[in-house]
Amino acid sequence: MQANVVVIGSLNMDLVTRTERLPHPGETVFGQSFATVHGGKGANQAVAASRLGARVAMLGCVGSDAYGTQLREGLLADQIDCQAVRTVSGSASGVALITVDAKSQNTIVVVAGANGCLEPQDIKTFDQVLQGAQVLVCQLEVPMETVGCVLARGRELGKVVILNPAPVSGPLPGHWYATIDYLIPNESEAWALSGVTVDSLESAELAARRLVGFGAGKVIVTLGALGALFVSAQRVAHFAAPKVEAVDATAAGDTFVGGFSAGLAAGMDEDDAIRFAQVAAALSVTRAGAQPSIPLLRDVQGFARS
Ligand code: RIB
Repeated sequence: MQANVVVIGSLNMDLVTRTERLPHPGETVFGQSFATVHGGKGANQAVAASRLGARVAMLGCVGSDAYGTQLREGLLADQIDCQAVRTVSGSASGVALITVDAKSQNTIVVVAGANGCLEPQDIKTFDQVLQGAQVLVCQLEVPMETVGCVLARGRELGKVVILNPAPVSGPLPGHWYATIDYLIPNESEAWALSGVTVDSLESAELAARRLVGFGAGKVIVTLGALGALFVSAQRVAHFAAPKVEAVDATAAGDTFVGGFSAGLAAGMDEDDAIRFAQVAAALSVTRAGAQPSIPLLRDVQGFARS
């Protein structure tokens, strides 16, 4: 089976607590529950693309610990090709410490672990996996140098290249922009990359126009309840968000990115792929956790019909 979507990125075990409200610095609060949940932005996007109909391969690293085994088994159970998931001997797997409050807001602290060992050499080693794909998807939870290699190789091979710049820690290298077909930031990432504070559709458009000016092909700013804004050199389009009762927003952005890539791989035009991804992301916020919250294709089709 040749994957049509290849996700290059992180796999984390999420250690999730639910609290009434998020603690202030220096404060201790009681949590109501604790769970270990499969996550990581890369793995979440791979799971979303697979559950939403794409043939998916993952390129990443896990540690030689129990979490590493569980994370790999989780992806395999979701029919994801893991031949390019490398186990790093002596390293711990990535973990994310997540706190979710009663309003479904979260804070996340990520410890990269083995994700920090994904090297440019891995991209060369698994070049065949990249070559067979239609869509390549990256985020920023693995080393920047490695992401840069994927973007450049993706452009060379003529693939559809998607970058979800999360988490963002500063401006992207300028030469990256011309290698990106779809840049998909949320509000705070759009602000960090463009310098424009994003708190409305107007400011999102200004920020996205600046990113297109830097050389990105097309920008889709995900705006939570405000929906998504598509901006290219030719057009601007707003997509309203489906209305749902939010329980936990963890991995909503990942579900959008995975859904969008699956939509493109299935031959949808970009507007339909955005609407499809929005429904998937909306359904994911109605459920707790990262990968457990990601819907199946039939859930999205059922929602669209209702
Ligand atoms: O986007 C959500 C993800 O961010 C979580 O699953 C966590 O692992 C962090 O990477």
